[in-house]
Amino acid sequence: MQLVISSVLSAADVAKVLSLLRNAPAGEGWVDGTATSGQQSAQMKNNQQMPEHGKITQQAREIVVSGISRHPSFMTAALPRRLYPPNFNRYSGDANTFGAHIDNALRTLPGAPGFLRTDLSCTLFLNDPSSYEGGELVIEGAGREQAYKLPAGSLTLYPATTVHRVNPVTRGERVACFFWIESMVRSSEQRELLYELDMTIMAQRTRELQADGKESAESVRLTGTYHNLLRMWATP
Ligand code: NI
Repeated sequence: MQLVISSVLSAADVAKVLSLLRNAPAGEGWVDGTATSGQQSAQMKNNQQMPEHGKITQQAREIVVSGISRHPSFMTAALPRRLYPPNFNRYSGDANTFGAHIDNALRTLPGAPGFLRTDLSCTLFLNDPSSYEGGELVIEGAGREQAYKLPAGSLTLYPATTVHRVNPVTRGERVACFFWIESMVRSSEQRELLYELDMTIMAQRTRELQADGKESAESVRLTGTYHNLLRMWATP
């Protein structure tokens, strides 16, 4: 399932993140983007990133993590078990593209033992899409491609199993945040079913509450079914 979630960060939070990135002191700012990529994708990658362990990166990261953690659609779609700390990238000038690649399946988690399995990849767009040309995130599928170029503060969540690329930015700059999620529900099919069920139940409960201030017995039972499926499929 590829999903777009709008306005995950408020305009104020987006502005704070951009200001942190743009006003980073010398030595804390943009560096060559091949730092976090595997050998194969390093050949495809030509962009810039904020230093993964930098202080400014950490401050901007906290704003992003707090925004996504508060967002109910993000949480129910991703069912995150662990998050790879978000990083920030920039495409502009000569460092303006990332060719077709697939993200590494396992990543070492900074400061923790073992590996994080990347079930989902996420791109959070941070600047106004009309201020740059190109820069679409293109996700390749069987016989079709899906391109995303979203408003600042909106994100796309997609299975990390897909081959994807970022089209060259030919004018202006594209600034985004990217990260990976290990989900409590590993199967994309099961996760999608849970998401559909949860969203439908939420809509039904809201309608019932608006109509007469209480939820029906059927809503209670459906909510029970959702939780029992989660109990069966989730590895917390
Ligand atoms: Ni990627």
